[in-house]
Amino acid sequence: MSLQRKLLLGFALMVLPTLLVGVQAIRTNALEGGTLEGLRQRLAHSRTYADVEDAMFNQTQVVWRYLSGDPAAKKEFPLTEQVVDYWLDRWAAGLPPDALKFADGVRAIEGDIRTVAARVFKLYDSGQREAAYLTARHELVERLQPALAVVNREIYRQARELSVQRAVAEVQTIVEAQRRVLWSIIVLALVVGLVASWLISRSLARPISELRQAMAVVGAGDLDHAIEPRSRDEIGDLARSFAQMTERLRQSRAQLVQSEKLASIGQMAAAVAHGLRNPLASLRAAAQLAQHRVEAPAAREQLGAIVEQVDRLDLRIAHLLTFSRPAPFRPLRESVRALVEGALSGFSELLRQRRVELAMNHAAALPEIRVDPMRLEQALTEIVSNALDAMPDGGRLEIATRPEGAGVGANGVVIEISDSGGGIPSEILPTVCEPFFTTRPEGTGLGLAIAKRYVEEAGGRLEIASAVGRGTAVRVWLPVASGDRAPAPAAPSLA
Ligand SMILES: Nc1ncnc2c1ncn2[C@@H]1O[C@H](COP(=O)(O)OP(=O)(O)OP(=O)(O)O)[C@@H](O)[C@H]1O
Ligand SMILES: [Mg+2]
Repeated sequence: MSLQRKLLLGFALMVLPTLLVGVQAIRTNALEGGTLEGLRQRLAHSRTYADVEDAMFNQTQVVWRYLSGDPAAKKEFPLTEQVVDYWLDRWAAGLPPDALKFADGVRAIEGDIRTVAARVFKLYDSGQREAAYLTARHELVERLQPALAVVNREIYRQARELSVQRAVAEVQTIVEAQRRVLWSIIVLALVVGLVASWLISRSLARPISELRQAMAVVGAGDLDHAIEPRSRDEIGDLARSFAQMTERLRQSRAQLVQSEKLASIGQMAAAVAHGLRNPLASLRAAAQLAQHRVEAPAAREQLGAIVEQVDRLDLRIAHLLTFSRPAPFRPLRESVRALVEGALSGFSELLRQRRVELAMNHAAALPEIRVDPMRLEQALTEIVSNALDAMPDGGRLEIATRPEGAGVGANGVVIEISDSGGGIPSEILPTVCEPFFTTRPEGTGLGLAIAKRYVEEAGGRLEIASAVGRGTAVRVWLPVASGDRAPAPAAPSLA
């Protein structure tokens, strides 16, 4: 995860509790609004019942008005019935099922009022005014109105419970729930905050501190200190860039050390060569002269050994001189085949002695290459010489040449020299071309360094592939001389 995303995630987590509290406040607000609305509706419903009460009271008043001599009141009575029915139906429609019994109670009293009113009207119309008045008083005032008052009390008590008390209970539940949710949010915010800050500090602070330590170690001069960028964010990128920078620094320091080593070896080699070559030449000449004069075969053999050792010493000195003071590069168009044969010419005796079988595999048509023939021959000589050194008890030396392109527009020729010797262990393979690297007691370790330098000087490449116990193949790629085009490969690859 990138650093930017981590920071965004951190801030988002910090905002989360506030967001939750906000959502909870909105939710609670909506619930409380719902409770208030319920209360309002229930209060409105109680007012409807007050209208029922008024209508029933007006009905009884109509009866009293008729008794007190208002003949129009009797005609009004059916209208009051309609008004009572209207309010009763409206009120009953809004009742919860468990309160419908109150509506039945009120309807029963209303029914009684109508019966009593009919009876009173009838008595009054038949002239029994006293009896009508007494019936009205007895039935309406003493029986039905107290009965209605009892029902009313019960209805208003129920309404109070339903509206205010239920609203209070609901608000209490909401407050309880809100308290629980708020506590949960506090605990959640604490846990999430701790975990997130631990994760972020671990993924930010730890790589930064590791990088700082690595910088301190590298800054103190230890360029081999391993830098392992673990995170894949911008800090990881920084660590990777730092590791690349350290690697380049290490390489350039190694090159610097190499150049310094070579420069001092060059000076030393030149001085040693200068000082040794002349006495050695005198020694060789003296030994050869003595060989002709001495008769005893044992002594002649000893003198022959001296000449041989002087020649080896001279070869080593020549190696050192070639490496430290290379002659100027003089390129010419050359035939690959001629170069290979020239390099091999000096090895026929050694090949026979070591019982090494030589196999040549030249492609039919090879373009010419542009190289310094002396140097390329020496490069090939060094490679062949190594191959023979690797096969002291015989084996097979194969030299193959073939045209081969190397990338867009680059045509070249490959010379591949393979032996069936002991091979090079993979751990030393990258170092065999370094100057002075050798595993042979009598080697200088300059052979491959010289070969590589001469091949690269001609614009080519030298690559070594080897397997322990199976042998080594040295592949020399050289660009064709300009104006020549490499024909299609004709020989099979031996790699
Ligand atoms: N064909 C090969 N098979 C096995 N090992 C090889 C081969 N070529 C090179 N090496 C290894 O590479 C090392 C370096 O080779 P290089 O030619 O540079 O030096 P050298 O042969 O040891 O000494 P010099 O060539 O100066 O006499 C050798 O000592 C040897 O261990
Ligand atoms: Mg060698």
